Amino acid sequence: MIYRAIIPAAGYGIRNLPVTKSIPKEMFPIGGRPTIEYIVEEAILAGITEILIILSRNKNEIMNYFDRSIELECFLTARGKEHLIPTITPPKVSIQYTRQHEALGLGHAVLMGKSFAGNEPFAVLLPDQVSLQRKSMLIPLIKTYDTYSTNVIGLQHVEPALLKNYGVVAAQRLKNRVFDIESIVEKPKKDPPSNLAIMGRYVLRPEVFEVLKDIAPGQGGEIQLTDALSELCSTSGMLGYAYKERWYDTSIEQDYLKIQKQAYLMKLHNKH
Ligand code: G1P
Repeated sequence: MIYRAIIPAAGYGIRNLPVTKSIPKEMFPIGGRPTIEYIVEEAILAGITEILIILSRNKNEIMNYFDRSIELECFLTARGKEHLIPTITPPKVSIQYTRQHEALGLGHAVLMGKSFAGNEPFAVLLPDQVSLQRKSMLIPLIKTYDTYSTNVIGLQHVEPALLKNYGVVAAQRLKNRVFDIESIVEKPKKDPPSNLAIMGRYVLRPEVFEVLKDIAPGQGGEIQLTDALSELCSTSGMLGYAYKERWYDTSIEQDYLKIQKQAYLMKLHNKH
């Protein structure tokens, strides 16, 4: 049973400058709602009851968004617009926040969730990877964890030219969509070990924190989650679940435009 999730949202959003100088990329709108709301919803749909969001100092908008605005509720009531109140009501889940004081990397951000996760397995959801599926993309990872009791990473087949943007695994197929991962390379510049890339969803055992504590800076001079996971392949074990569903990467402008269009069409057809 996985009921805690960490959402790292502390990065500078370098790929999306200059707008991310003021607006966190997690607040980029999709169908009139911020990206991070889709991520929180995905976690809730998978049975997560406690969320830790890792922030940095220019990300206060995220905390404000998930807080109640009694002033706005009163204003809407006074104007006879009570029907809008459910749209601004925070989700029914416990959300805690912690700040990463320095941008030391994704691995370091996840390590900040050590005491939150305690001695239990937990999920990690990277907020720039979004799917517009009505079902939660976290559920198959949790089911795989329940079957095998080991770390599970979300994967997807990616075209070769794009592999340099992702963690890429060397893996053997175990069963249907489940792969046994032998090693992982973060953003390979050449010779990627396969075309299976990490898609920003993880279910991890607490042993990862012990590895993260001692890991040296890797690709880009940052503490990489991927390096810790690669080390765990030979000790704790590491499985991958290969998604067939479409993912959108909101850091890539073209993908962001596509997801906006898709969300708009879904709204139009009243599907979401
Ligand atoms: C991170 C991970 C990478 C993963 C990617 C998915 O990279 O380090 O392994 O494939 O997310 O979005 P980032 O996009 O934060 O540079």
